[in-house]
Amino acid sequence: MKKIIALAMALAMLCVMFTGCGASQGEKDATDYSTMTIEELKPLLKTVTDGKLTMVTSPDFAPYEFYTLDEAGKPTLAGFDIALGQYIADFLGLELEIITMDFDGTISELAAGKADIGMAGYSPDPDREAAMDFSNVYYTGGQSFVCHVDNASLFAALTDANKAEYQIGAQIGSIQADLAKANTPDADIVELSKVTDIIAEVISGKLDGAFIETVVAETYAKNYPELCVVLPVPYEAEGSVVGIKNGNTALQAAVSAGQTLLDNISSTPQGEEFVAAAVAIREAQELFESTTARRANPTAIQIENGDFTGFSVNANYTPKELDELKNGWLC
Ligand code: ARG
Repeated sequence: MKKIIALAMALAMLCVMFTGCGASQGEKDATDYSTMTIEELKPLLKTVTDGKLTMVTSPDFAPYEFYTLDEAGKPTLAGFDIALGQYIADFLGLELEIITMDFDGTISELAAGKADIGMAGYSPDPDREAAMDFSNVYYTGGQSFVCHVDNASLFAALTDANKAEYQIGAQIGSIQADLAKANTPDADIVELSKVTDIIAEVISGKLDGAFIETVVAETYAKNYPELCVVLPVPYEAEGSVVGIKNGNTALQAAVSAGQTLLDNISSTPQGEEFVAAAVAIREAQELFESTTARRANPTAIQIENGDFTGFSVNANYTPKELDELKNGWLC
């Protein structure tokens, strides 16, 4: 009798382990990956392309992700999301493949299950849970309202920006667009695809102000002193997370195992790897600050199949503004 019970239990366990008896396709994988080691997890990982970790990102967001020129003058992706993405791929034993697109595109691409992870400085916005799963927070920053330095005195409080005559910018699909609607509902809210275009328009005076993440605004302000990070903006879901393809709980557990290492650098043998990633983060920031391309509008660089093909421009610019851009921004 004991034997039969043991056999039944073993069978039941097998059922649970192998996707569960009766569980229809598409149902949530019930396996508990959270207690597994990374070596146990690796062979269980399923990715969009076997052996690869496909990551989507939107490189208009220094120091998270941006284009810079390498020594040979070739546009290259840099930033701490890029370094962390590489770190995660290495940790999982996968080859990293990065696909760049506008920010709202990264969210829809993940939601469509076409990428394994998204690293684009995602805030863990509860409204986004249908599109992606979240990792733990890997970076904590804050939100800001920015304006042209000459207008800083106009904005003593956020309520000063809430006027019908103001054009206030925010990125399409971002939590900053929600912040703009919540804090400046009376203003004309202008949503653009790229943060770098928003910054260009604040500097050129097309926009009166914009909502941008603080560390990003501060990074661009170093290179564009006309940009003033004038007011902090309260926001609840602080911090940045990795976006993980919905329902890929094995991958989520593996990313979180990697993050535990990041968080516990001093107590893990893999500390060295973390130091390398941390150095890469710092280097990325320095690279951005020191590169000769720093006055270039990073997303105005067109890349096809990894090759530089020219500069793209925002179709809304007038010919005069285009000339200014070519002469001033695109070095
Ligand atoms: N943290 C904001 C959000 O999740 C903005 C992120 C924008 N990222 C980017 N790469 N442009 O909505």
